[in-house]
Amino acid sequence: MKKKLIQILPKHKLTDKELDEFFDIIIPICEHEEFKIRLDALKFPHHGNISLGEHIVKDALITYALCKKKNKKGKKVNKRLAVITAMFHDLYEKPWQNSEIKKKVFRNAHGFTHPIEASINAIIWYPEYFKNRKEAEIIIDGILHHMFPFPLRSIKNFEELELNNYNKIKKIDDDLLEMIIKSSNKNKLFNVSFKKSIYLEGKLVSKADKIVSMLKDITSFNALLACLTGKNPDLKK
Ligand SMILES: [Fe+2]
Ligand SMILES: [Fe+2]
Repeated sequence: MKKKLIQILPKHKLTDKELDEFFDIIIPICEHEEFKIRLDALKFPHHGNISLGEHIVKDALITYALCKKKNKKGKKVNKRLAVITAMFHDLYEKPWQNSEIKKKVFRNAHGFTHPIEASINAIIWYPEYFKNRKEAEIIIDGILHHMFPFPLRSIKNFEELELNNYNKIKKIDDDLLEMIIKSSNKNKLFNVSFKKSIYLEGKLVSKADKIVSMLKDITSFNALLACLTGKNPDLKK
């Protein structure tokens, strides 16, 4: 696994010791069967033909580097929690490019709802990371608001959201569901929430996501256009 991950890391200036610390955090997460599927670009293309897993790992590395910078400046960021949040931020249920899934209402489209699917999947696949409820709150808030300034669908009732993993909700403890609902309703306008994560860890994940998506993943016009239309003709080739 480590060899495979080294091949997909973006350029960085981390020392060997820092890289070891980074891998100690991410490898247990990468070893999950669901994560392995997302490392396969044919099964899970995210931007263009970059796999979702590759996007996530790059985001996690940039998050680690941003945390290091903040800590040097004397800010207290929990690197481990920030990297875990990055590893979970896009664990949505189904590939979105050229998807046949049709949502009945626009506000339930992938862009608005995938962070909610990601938080549900992260809780189901990695329950040990959500046992400490304070840490769970930081991770969930970071996952949900990683797309800021793009809005997040606010939740009144999970049934309305047309989630691709709705059936998993009944397996989640009420207090964690309550955390998701509460965080999704902050700065609410109509049916969406316009809000950065309130935690520095989450803010850095969101920043890393922009850096990775815009500078590293989206390398063609069609991949960029797919962010608006959901369709990428390059993938069919
Ligand atoms: Fe995302
Ligand atoms: Fe992302």
